[in-house]
Parts: sequence; structure tokens; C-alpha cells
Amino acid sequence: MTTTLAPPFDFEHFLLKKGDAFDLIKALPDNSGDASIGDPPYNLHKMGSDWDHDALTDKSGRTGVVKSLPGGMKLDREQGRQLGAFMFEMCKQTLRVLKPGAFYINFSQPRLSHWMAVAMEDAGFEIRDILIWNYGTGQTKAASQDRVVRKMKISDEEKVRLLASMGGRKTPQLRPMCEHMILAQKPREGTFVQNWDKWGVGLVDTTQSLDGKFPGQIMSVAKPSKAERGVGNDHVSVKPVKLIGHLIELVTTEGQVVIDPFAGSGSHGVAAMNTGRKFIGFEREPKAFNVAANRLLAAAPKPTGGGGTCGQGPKRSFDVAKYKLPPEQPRSFGFGWAHRQCPTLTAWDD
Ligand SMILES: C[S@@+](CC[C@H](N)C(=O)[O-])C[C@H]1O[C@@H](n2cnc3c(N)ncnc32)[C@H](O)[C@@H]1O
Repeated sequence: MTTTLAPPFDFEHFLLKKGDAFDLIKALPDNSGDASIGDPPYNLHKMGSDWDHDALTDKSGRTGVVKSLPGGMKLDREQGRQLGAFMFEMCKQTLRVLKPGAFYINFSQPRLSHWMAVAMEDAGFEIRDILIWNYGTGQTKAASQDRVVRKMKISDEEKVRLLASMGGRKTPQLRPMCEHMILAQKPREGTFVQNWDKWGVGLVDTTQSLDGKFPGQIMSVAKPSKAERGVGNDHVSVKPVKLIGHLIELVTTEGQVVIDPFAGSGSHGVAAMNTGRKFIGFEREPKAFNVAANRLLAAAPKPTGGGGTCGQGPKRSFDVAKYKLPPEQPRSFGFGWAHRQCPTLTAWDD
């Protein structure tokens, strides 16, 4: 693919672009990213899935939707299918953009994670594992059905019999404690060693640990505190920087590029900055974009030079020429970039 110098893309630490991830990712070159860690919209009723929120709420009268469950827990058989179709397109682009052997991790709500895994596999990735983020404390959503029985048009004797037989049983939701993270890999070129030698990806750094032991499938990390989220960050689905940092350190090396097409409030980017990686992120919602831009600018290594000198991070063996975008693409983006490249440049918006 043709490459050319386009200043916003010649980035030192991070590149965050406001806009639709499906358009923006097309501008990234083939075989260029070292890993992608995504936290896509969950496609759950009233749970920050704007891309299909209207479609979902319009379906409230359709068969398969259980109206009595709280927002986020309504069952619609179409949700999984829609998530699968949505993700399949993103997975195909991600497969193109990642280097052979690179890892691709997607968060998913456990109830829909099988659709996520199938979308990734259908697009061409090899599913390696399902990791679990154990966040420990979840809000119990199981609903008592006693009130439903009391409102039924049956005799009092029947109600007593039914309530006694149900014995206080509730709707099928155990206390939520985890999210799934599907770990997949772009097919390698040759053996693990040959792939590593050519592309620098495809093996896992098992010296990384959250608990002092060999890294495991269950990762126990508390949800981010208010302080970690940062000022004005009321995003509904902020991921802990510590968890994402651990994932990044497992599957990449310093200076490599981590991509998050659904950046939200920017936690994956902050984790990339903290671990000395580079970050490319996209976010469609202006408010989330601004929060992410501010968090990233605060987390990125500060420029040390003056008068236009680029920011200095740890020494990297990063070949920036591989990350230039094709010449026809930058013009269509307009503004809406945030990046840490020069002291004179800060986050800006459309
Ligand atoms: C689950 S949240 C990500 C949260 C993020 N991991 C964090 O810690 O803040 C998903 C994000 O994807 C964004 N999004 C949804 N569809 C998008 C699209 N087509 N292009 C870009 N962003 C999109 C939403 O606005 C939302 O902020």
C-alpha cells in the first residue's frame, strides 16, 4: 500500500480520531498493527449501543423480548445476530490491518460472547482462549416473581399454592461478576518462531502477572475508581487501566502499536501510554472523544524539547514509515484529531 508523510499520522505516542470506526480503520495499512484490544458496544437494550439503540427499542413488542427485565437485561434473540454482523465487518478489517500472528482481544458481555467469538473466527482469526475479567462486585438483577403472582387473576388459594411452589425463586440472572475477553490471533506465517522473527508478534510474555503467578485466564481487577476515570468521565463502560495494561504487556512489546476502534473514554490508550506502547483509537461520540483525548494527553510522555521538538518517550524500535496512511485518506478526515506529537499540538475537536 502506498505510504506518504501526513503529519497527523506521523505520531509519536498516540493518535485518536473522532469518527466512525468502520470508515477510519479502512485508512490503516495492511499488516501494520501489533495488537487490537477492543471493547465494542454491547448491543444491549439501553446499554450504550447507540448504533442500534433505536432498532432495539422499536422491537419491544416483538416475540422474544422479555419486557419485565431491567434495562440491559432484556432478551432479544436478534441482539446476538446483530452483534455478530456488526463485529464481523470490524473483524475483517482488523484481520487486514494486524500483522500476521498479532493478537486480537474483544470484550464481550458473557450472554453474547459466543456471537463475538464466532464473528472473530468467521472473519479469519484463530480463537485462542476466552479470558475472564472478574470485577468482583456486580449489581444483582434477578427479579422476584411474587408480585407477578399476586397480580394474577386467580383465586387467593391458587396464589398461595403457586407462591409456595416457587419458593421465592427469581428470574435467571446470577450476580454479575465478570466480562469475557475473547483472545484470538491472526494466522501466523510459518512457525511461532519464524513469525516472531519476521513480524515481532505472536508469542505471549508469560513473565507478566497480576498476582505473582503464571498469567491465568481469570484476571481479577476492580472496576476503575472515580480518580482513575478522570474529570467528567461518565462513560457507562470504562475499563480498568491496570487490566488493559496487563493484556497489552502480555501480547506486545514496548513501542508496538495497539489499536482500539471503539475507544470510549480512552482507557486502552492510557494503558498503552503507561506501558510504553503506541496507540491508535477511534471514537464516534464527541463527549467520549473529548474525555479520551484529555486522558490520553495527560498520560502520554510529555514533550521535553521546545520550539516544535517532538515529544520524547522511551527509546523505541518503531518504524514509523509503516504507519503512514494512503495519500487520499487524510483529506477526508478533516479535524477531530488528538495526538501527542509536538508541543504545539494538543487535542482539538471539529
Ligand atoms: C464499550 S464502550 C468503550 C469503553 C472504553 N473501553 C473505556 O474504557 O472507556 C464502546 C464505545 O464505542 C463507541 N462506538 C460505537 N459505535 C462506534 C462506531 N461505529 N465508531 C466509533 N465508535 C463507536 C461508543 O460511542 C462507545 O464509547
